[in-house]
Amino acid sequence: MVSVSGKGGVGKTTFTALTLKYLLDVASNLDILLVDADPDSNLPDVLGIDVKRTVGDVVNEVKDSKYDLPPDFDKKLYLEKQIFEILEEGRGFDLLVMGVTEREGCYCLVNSLLTTIVGMLLENYDVILMDMPAGLEHISRRTDRDVDILYILADGSKMSMQTVLRIKDLSEKLLTRFKKIFLVGNMVSSKLTAAFEKIAQSANITFAGIIPYDEIVAEYNFEGKPLLDVPINSKAYDATKSVIKRTLLPYLSV
Ligand SMILES: Nc1ncnc2c1ncn2[C@@H]1O[C@H](COP(=O)(O)OP(=O)(O)O)[C@@H](O)[C@H]1O
Ligand SMILES: [Mg+2]
Repeated sequence: MVSVSGKGGVGKTTFTALTLKYLLDVASNLDILLVDADPDSNLPDVLGIDVKRTVGDVVNEVKDSKYDLPPDFDKKLYLEKQIFEILEEGRGFDLLVMGVTEREGCYCLVNSLLTTIVGMLLENYDVILMDMPAGLEHISRRTDRDVDILYILADGSKMSMQTVLRIKDLSEKLLTRFKKIFLVGNMVSSKLTAAFEKIAQSANITFAGIIPYDEIVAEYNFEGKPLLDVPINSKAYDATKSVIKRTLLPYLSV
């Protein structure tokens, strides 16, 4: 299980989509599940998939109908059945969107279901790739406790770097839970490589590489074109490939 984390806007969704593109290319034998766990969901958009129902929608349905439900209604069983129905099939992968529940866009309930749901689906997939909510809350709340590999993205801004340093405080807890924690610089110049290496070292994590700002990705985003279709000369795709090849493929049976 792979989790992509970092503050909002650092490129988690972009990195997740480009990682998927590469896995579909080199590891087409694997069964892949993508989970959009960010309440500020945009993974379906960048993948060009129309998602009809989210986990949040299912939770709302159960809540709204709570007075009409038969007394022996098993919420857990219902949820389990619904999860398989809301899985969207993409070209070579499945996608599950967590979403939010109605009450003021509350994410907490959906968030607490994430562990259960991922546990349920774990044995059906070789890789589960999760686009996580911004920040580290899901880490301290242990919602993704079975994650093997954690990518933390940072865009070089002071705030994104502070996120990385907070990892250091959590690192004792984290390092026992993750096989590996990688720092990835996104939308930064390769001139910052040494600085990133240093910061990764001080947080006891491994620097995985830098993904440059890429006009092609920006253009695709602007035009709303799926990132799975970026050409192979995309600089961001090329750099993501190299990061994934070195850091993730060794853990997969490809
Ligand atoms: N390497 C990159 N080159 C150019 N634009 C990028 C790159 N990475 C991300 N972006 C753009 O930055 C914005 C935020 O990226 P996104 O992946 O949505 O971040 P997050 O999921 O962390 O909130 C988007 O408009 C995206 O197209
Ligand atoms: Mg996102």
